[in-house]
Amino acid sequence: MTEGTVVVVGGTCELGKHLARHYADKGHRVFVTSRDLGRAQAAAKEIGGNCIGIAVDLSAPHQIAAALSGVDDVQHLALVALHRDDNKVRDYNIDEAIKLVTLKLVGYTECVHVLCSRMRADASILIYGGLAKDQPYPGSTTITTVNGGVSTLINSLAIELSPIRVNAIHPAQVGDTPAWATKPKEVLDNLRARTALGRLVTIEDVTHAAVFLLENRGVTGVNLRVDGGRMMK
Ligand SMILES: NC(=O)c1ccc[n+]([C@@H]2O[C@H](COP(=O)([O-])OP(=O)(O)OC[C@H]3O[C@@H](n4cnc5c(N)ncnc54)[C@H](OP(=O)(O)O)[C@@H]3O)[C@@H](O)[C@H]2O)c1
Repeated sequence: MTEGTVVVVGGTCELGKHLARHYADKGHRVFVTSRDLGRAQAAAKEIGGNCIGIAVDLSAPHQIAAALSGVDDVQHLALVALHRDDNKVRDYNIDEAIKLVTLKLVGYTECVHVLCSRMRADASILIYGGLAKDQPYPGSTTITTVNGGVSTLINSLAIELSPIRVNAIHPAQVGDTPAWATKPKEVLDNLRARTALGRLVTIEDVTHAAVFLLENRGVTGVNLRVDGGRMMK
């Protein structure tokens, strides 16, 4: 059997592109998504191989079915996209909160709903959460909530869709992503000191763990932290 299709929703960010490149290099047909078709196509070109860019906006869940209509024979689905919502409860921004909640909890689920009938029997789904679910910080009100939601969403999906496997990955701050690479040195030094390994995890660390969760045939309903031992300190 030929290699199946890999779909990376949020395939224009560095974590998404790195995972997409891993599978494109192995000969899979890979779809990468962005809200913007031009950005998706540019990312697909950068990734190379048989990689195709398509436009999907998770904040408009009713439009997701049409956006994914050309995708079939899915072997791996990775849901990576994020809307960054820095939201403190004393200064609550409802519109920003709705965007992130819709994107991760409704948009991700709608992607699964649309694609599950086009998945191979041994297919797998990986949802990106994050350590903010366990380690809140001022402003993480919505991201802590949705990443907590991701950690339980995978359980119901894994039961309903079996034998399709469904897992979640929860990175701590990924040091070489744009969100963190540009932070002041003292912020990064403080974060490193709070890990058992004395370093921040990397995009490569996250992709390595993502591939394990997507491919290991005995793993479903698992929330895997990739945090350099942050939870032990
Ligand atoms: N970076 C970290 O340190 C870190 C730590 C823990 C967890 N994570 C998790 O890893 C994942 C990626 O994070 P990141 O920091 O790499 O993200 P990022 O750089 O902020 O990129 C966000 C991605 O989401 C897409 N996106 C934004 N709004 C969207 C929408 N409404 N519909 C569809 N796609 C949308 C963006 O595509 P366009 O802008 O092209 O539309 C882009 O591909 C997230 O799930 C995050 O929770 C990251």
